[in-house]
Formats: sequence, C-alpha cells, structure tokens
Amino acid sequence: MIGTMSRVISGTSLVDRDRAHLWHPYTQMRTAPPPLPIVKGEGVYLITEDGRRLLDGTSSWWVNIHGHSHPRLNRALAEQAQRLEHVMFAGCTHEPAVALAERLVAVLPQGLTRVFYSDNGSTAVEVALKLALQYWQNVGRPERRAFVALHHAYHGDTVGAMSVSEDSLFTRAFSPLLFSVARAESPYCYRCPLGLERSRCQIDCLSSLETVLQRQGEMVAAVIVEPMLQGAGGMVVWPGEFLAGVRRLCDRYGTLLIADEVLTGFGRTGRMFACDHQSVTPDVICLSKALTAGYLPLGATVASERLYDAFLSDDRAKTFFHGHSFTANPLACAVGCASLDLFRDSQTLERVGRLETQLRRGLAPLADLPIVGDIRVIGGIGIVELVSDKATRRADGYLDGIGPRLAAAFLERGLLLRPLGNIVYFMPPYVITDDEVDWALQQIREVLTHC
Ligand SMILES: Cc1ncc(COP(=O)(O)O)c(C=O)c1O
Repeated sequence: MIGTMSRVISGTSLVDRDRAHLWHPYTQMRTAPPPLPIVKGEGVYLITEDGRRLLDGTSSWWVNIHGHSHPRLNRALAEQAQRLEHVMFAGCTHEPAVALAERLVAVLPQGLTRVFYSDNGSTAVEVALKLALQYWQNVGRPERRAFVALHHAYHGDTVGAMSVSEDSLFTRAFSPLLFSVARAESPYCYRCPLGLERSRCQIDCLSSLETVLQRQGEMVAAVIVEPMLQGAGGMVVWPGEFLAGVRRLCDRYGTLLIADEVLTGFGRTGRMFACDHQSVTPDVICLSKALTAGYLPLGATVASERLYDAFLSDDRAKTFFHGHSFTANPLACAVGCASLDLFRDSQTLERVGRLETQLRRGLAPLADLPIVGDIRVIGGIGIVELVSDKATRRADGYLDGIGPRLAAAFLERGLLLRPLGNIVYFMPPYVITDDEVDWALQQIREVLTHC
C-alpha cells in the first residue's frame, strides 16, 4: 500500500500534491489560481518548478531584505545548526539570543532595553498588549485596561492582534471573540477623515486621538500604532508630525505607546526603525518579519526598563506568564545577528535611500492615468492607489477584482506582486539593482496604462 501511494505521489506535480492536502492563508481555495511551485530563491528572484524566474516584488510578504538564499545568512544558519538548534528559553539561555538582544538594544530607539522573544509578528503584538495590561496591574493601576488603536490598522491575526486591528473583512467573522477597543482617526491624507488637503492642514486629525484619550481618561493602558506606514490596512503613509503628536499625547495622558514595527522595522521606511523618523521612543516596540531577514519565524517585543521593573517582585503573581515553545530559537537568532552584520557591512540603509529616490522618480509619471488616485513612496516601498472615479476618489477596497487581474498581468511578465485590492505596491528586497528596479517600474507602468 505504501509503495502504491508513493508511486502515485511521485507521478503528480507539486501543485497537484499541494491541492490534495494543503490549505493556504488568505486564499479562497475554490477560486484562487493554482499556487506557484517555487523550488529555489536567488537574490531578488524566485524560481519556479518549470524554470521561470520571478522578481519577488513583495519581499515574500514583506520579510526579505538582503535577498533569497544569501551566502552569509546561509552560513550563519548552517554553523548554528551544527552547535545548537533549539532549547527551551525558560531557565536556559544561549549565545545567539543574548547577542541578538545586545545588538537590537544598540540600534533601537534609546531607552528600549528589555527584549522578550516570541515567534512571529502577531505574537510580538500579543506580548505587547499583555505586557501593557499587566504593567498597570503590577503598579497598582488596574483600571487602566483599555486599548486605543487607529482606523486602517493591521496588527496580525491572533485574537488580541485582531482586536486592535481595523474592524474589517479580515476580522468580521471572528468579532464574537474580540475585545472592544477605542479607535481614533489615522492620517490617511488622500482620504482625509476631516476632508482637508495636506497642504492646508495642521495634522488636525490628531485631535481625534486627543478626544479619545480625554474621554477614556485614566482607563487607557496603551495606544498602539504602526508608525509612519499602516501596511495591510491600505499602505497609508503618515506625515511624520502625526507620529510625534501621538507620542506627545501619550505623555500628556500618561498612557503607554506601543509601536508595531513588524513591517516597518529594519530599514523598510528608510530609517532603521520608523520611530527614528521623528526620534520617538515608544514604551514598547514589536519586531518580526525582517528581524531574521525573512529566513525564520521570530518575534521580539522590546520594552523600556520602567516597564520591566514593574514585573520584578517577590510576589510571583507579578511574573509575566507568557511563552512559546520556540521562544528565542537559536537558528533564528543567529540569522538575525548575521542580518545586522550585513546592515553594517553593505551600507543597507544607504541602499534603501537610493531605492526611495528611484521609486519616486519612476512612479511619478503614473499620476496622470485616469485610474491612479494617489502615489505614495516611503523608503523601499512604492504604492499606487487605484480608483474607479478620479474625481470622487471612489474605490472598491480589498475585494476590488482589479487586484487579482493586475497580479495575473504582472505575473505574466515575471513580476510577482500581490495588490491589496485597489492598492498596488512594490516592496522588493533591498539588494535589488537599479536596472531591476527600472525593469519592474516599467512593467508596472505598462500594465497600469493598459488595464
Ligand atoms: C504591522 C504588522 N503587525 C503584525 C503583523 C503580523 O505578523 P505575522 O504575519 O508574522 O503574524 C503584520 C503582518 O503583516 C504587520 O504588517
């Protein structure tokens, strides 16, 4: 029987075998096109089973920064595997976890000094929310238990992370599980919540957060934001003043600020961390994705010493009771250290700066197209917001059928993109060359011109 089964399996394609047993994320399995069978990664390219080379224009869901299968990262991984692949992190420690924590503290906004590892972006957010809640209990202020989040937010798919994300198609089926959260406006300038134009506004939308903080008074545990760039909620790029204003308001109302830098961390917005654009230090920062250069799942939630101190006690009930089997996985931490070496040795941030200039220049000509409503660029990300009516800025959002249609057209040309409905974005690994950027931008211009 086993022999028969293995003959059947080896006779069918990877896609057929996938279709027999797998269930993909964010995928309507009835209508989605067959998955791409990827057999190899090489720099900015993904190579399919039949030998096609696709330029990875989403950095494999925003995680990859130095390119696929990078020799130095491969070496760090292999060397660590020879020494120690994993050990529980309660009651044990190891060199890669310590070294990565030291290196993170050295590059993070000053004052973030205590690293708590987990294993993905959503868990990094869960840890931040739980830390904030218990912090207030430990310091004798248990009434501070509410969270404030922004419209258009996306913080992940676990229950706490969904609760602080925008109420949307992504979360609606799970609403009975979610806790209630106060929401404030985000600075989505193209669709200004106050109907203003950026050139005439004084970041007036910040008043919405102030009103929430006034109303909730002493009940707020923390405000959580994706600084400078809200990702999955629409690729909303902020004016820096909004971020500075959020910090100011959190200080004024005595609440904690959680910065979710799962997407923005490690250079994606042109600075090492998005908070660096305004020299803001949050009380807690959430990291994942490029933390391991996209190699392995790892999350880190880094807190200030003030927060950490509140958990030190002879009373064991004040302990932070949270952990995961793969907390501080040594392989992931070793690759994280090697990735930080590459930042230093390859002038990675300078590269992102040049990428930003090229993206601005290359996308600007699209502004005249009737379907292009807005063009936004920050760091290594170029964003085009499509509309069905330029005058009214009408658009159909995430379920807009234009997303999959465009994805298919890009794929045809060898460019792997995954628009968020009417939001087309290009977010390549930083190692992309100028010529490759020019080529990708040309594909984007041609497809959008003829769609
Ligand atoms: C800002 C932000 N936070 C959290 C997450 C969740 O990360 P993960 O998918 O690793 O759970 C994401 C994922 O896209 C994100 O963009």
